[in-house]
Amino acid sequence: MIIGSPLTPSATKVMLLGSGELGKEVIIALQRYGVEVIAVDRYENAPGHQVAHRAYTIDMTDAQALKALVNQEKPHLIVPEIEALNTDALADIERDGTTVIPTVKAVQLTMNREGIRKLAAETLNLPTSPYAFARSETELQAAIDAGIGYPCFIKPTMSSSGKGQSRITQASEVKAAWDYAAAGGRVNQGVVIVEGQIAFDYEITLLTVRAKNAQSEIQTYFCEPIGHVQEKGDYVESWQPQIMTAAALTSAQHIAKTMTDALGGLGLFGVELFVKGDQVWFSEVSPRPHDTGMVTMCSQRLSEFELHARAILGLPVDVAMTKPGASAVIYGGAESKQLSYDGVADALAIPNSDIRLFGKPESYLRRRMGVALVTADNTDEARKQAKLAASLVKTKA
Ligand SMILES: Nc1ncnc2c1ncn2[C@@H]1O[C@H](COP(=O)(O)OP(=O)(O)OP(=O)(O)O)[C@@H](O)[C@H]1O
Ligand SMILES: [Mg+2]
Repeated sequence: MIIGSPLTPSATKVMLLGSGELGKEVIIALQRYGVEVIAVDRYENAPGHQVAHRAYTIDMTDAQALKALVNQEKPHLIVPEIEALNTDALADIERDGTTVIPTVKAVQLTMNREGIRKLAAETLNLPTSPYAFARSETELQAAIDAGIGYPCFIKPTMSSSGKGQSRITQASEVKAAWDYAAAGGRVNQGVVIVEGQIAFDYEITLLTVRAKNAQSEIQTYFCEPIGHVQEKGDYVESWQPQIMTAAALTSAQHIAKTMTDALGGLGLFGVELFVKGDQVWFSEVSPRPHDTGMVTMCSQRLSEFELHARAILGLPVDVAMTKPGASAVIYGGAESKQLSYDGVADALAIPNSDIRLFGKPESYLRRRMGVALVTADNTDEARKQAKLAASLVKTKA
């Protein structure tokens, strides 16, 4: 790909749909290659807005608004960063000749748990948790009784970051789980997935990159596995590498390759997997950088954001890990429209540490406002120090 000069007629233009903390890092990576970046989000002064050439605030589920903006800006590439998008409009935009990363099909399938689960389990025959879809509380109870059993997870089919999700252990909790899922879903309310619990030893994100090699062919590359801890469907800490058996790693890479081949296109994917011994289950996949992958900002030569930027521009990638590392989330801790952060210097006094503050204009108790990153000789030490660094950053409303 030939790269032009930003803000001139030759510019290579990329539009981010969703400009949170992950989009912000992708934008910075693109800026470094001299790309002209347009950041779009649903609220003003989103993290990515603050580092782009131009920023827009629109409702991205509104087909007319989305098409009008694309028509006005005429980007070469559209990079979705969030799931709440009007994918019918994206399909029209792709048909009119603008590349959507990685593909509109991938964006459509992954925004809906029904689409991605059926692709994984029924079309690609990948191992997953036992599951069923339910359209009412009665159907939900029936599916659990028919074989899913307890404990199980109930999730809206259209949701992310644990929204509307519950884990239940008995029949008396079914009603509350149904009501919670119905309220927490995004667009297509009224359909939930119920999954049997996988008693995993650990869970990983396998960052998988589809990028062009020296022969200009699309090749698949795998980063070192990332281990993580989730609380209520939201990530709290992650580390790289997660040590796996050779058999489990082979299986994880096979699952990730099969899935990302099916989704197609260029870019980085976050493949979420559950692991027990040598056994691996597919959970879900993001066709874009993954929150748990923020650790790569310290542990790899090229972060997942830089890898995504290179891959979508058709440039070669290098997925090498340089040092074991860990990330720990910094929460808002309070509701505020002018949060301040103290103790950053204390956090940075920890050897080989770094802090990212996302610059979100509004904070609430459990909102992710920043992340601590630490490298060390091993992941146990890195995790300990990252959690310490995160705890040293004190927020004030
Ligand atoms: N079937 C299952 N068995 C065991 N654990 C599960 C199962 N489903 C979900 N979990 C746990 O809940 C977490 C969140 O689930 P999932 O990834 O499906 O939701 P999510 O809302 O998409 O979260 P995120 O957007 O943060 O990835 C998983 O990472 C895992 O820790
Ligand atoms: Mg997940």
